[in-house]
Amino acid sequence: MATTRSVVMGDGLSIPQIGFGTYKMPDPDAEAAVATAIEVGYRHIDTATMYGNEIGVGRGLAVSGVPREDLFVVSKLNNPDHEPNDARAALERTLTDLALDRLDLYLVHWPYPEENTTPLVDTWNVLVEAQKEGLVTSIGMSNGEPEHLREIRDSGLPMPAVNQIEIHPYLPNSDLVKFTRSLGITVESWSPIARGQLVTDPVVVAMSEETGIPVGQIILAWHLAQDLVVIPKASSKARMAENFASQDVTLSPENIAALDGLYKGEAGRTGKHPSTMKRFGE
Ligand SMILES: NC(=O)c1ccc[n+]([C@@H]2O[C@H](COP(=O)([O-])OP(=O)(O)OC[C@H]3O[C@@H](n4cnc5c(N)ncnc54)[C@H](OP(=O)(O)O)[C@@H]3O)[C@@H](O)[C@H]2O)c1
Repeated sequence: MATTRSVVMGDGLSIPQIGFGTYKMPDPDAEAAVATAIEVGYRHIDTATMYGNEIGVGRGLAVSGVPREDLFVVSKLNNPDHEPNDARAALERTLTDLALDRLDLYLVHWPYPEENTTPLVDTWNVLVEAQKEGLVTSIGMSNGEPEHLREIRDSGLPMPAVNQIEIHPYLPNSDLVKFTRSLGITVESWSPIARGQLVTDPVVVAMSEETGIPVGQIILAWHLAQDLVVIPKASSKARMAENFASQDVTLSPENIAALDGLYKGEAGRTGKHPSTMKRFGE
């Protein structure tokens, strides 16, 4: 498939269902990686101020030659920037670093409730105002737990269009997915391959040998079958292409059930639980 399937977000706008993740991709590598991902067919690029690569990502977007209106660019507000004046300045820096005048989607990266002294709603309101000004087309949460989503709902402000959370067969996060969707919010899976751990899982390897479907595609097709948006990261063009082609894969109900059987619950979490995230990172 040369194009990307789209999913409708909570605000009624579309997001390409497969995006390219750029976490742990240092700034000098990001330009070539993003340009290659776009060449492969990706139109949705996921970055964050926390990743320290917005300049490289922006260069990759520019050298790709693909018109801005055909790209879907996502970044995230960093934890130390939640105070409203800081949040606004952080968004402006992100736009400068990416060399864009608008983001397609801007997320609050982590609520980090233990140390955050700024009410989430005050930070959220900065995103709402930026959306009204056209600096960001859609706004969303990342790592939103039910209490965070309820806080925004109860404020009467517009709801997040998406909630980007850790999801993969080891940690399907089903209750949070269900709750998020009950509020009309679209769910995105971060670390959809469990940061690479799933590609060597014996169940996935055996399934790949039996079906002839590459491991990356098996895992990503599991997400796509649940209407989740996925943002896998890969370093080589071959892996980028393999992952992108997961849109053409339909898994059998037996294969999906076997992947569901990999459930580990909290033991399968690869990142921080949102309730224990610290202001200055992991
Ligand atoms: N919102 C948040 O808090 C949050 C947190 C974490 C991640 N994210 C986003 O989610 C994106 C994806 O998560 P992630 O980067 O942590 O991990 P991931 O996409 O789950 O896994 C990436 C790992 O899998 C390997 N891999 C990818 N495709 C493969 C394939 N087809 N065959 C074999 N190995 C393959 C990659 O290796 P190579 O790189 O060597 O190819 C890399 O080590 C991030 O890049 C970021 O954009 C968001």
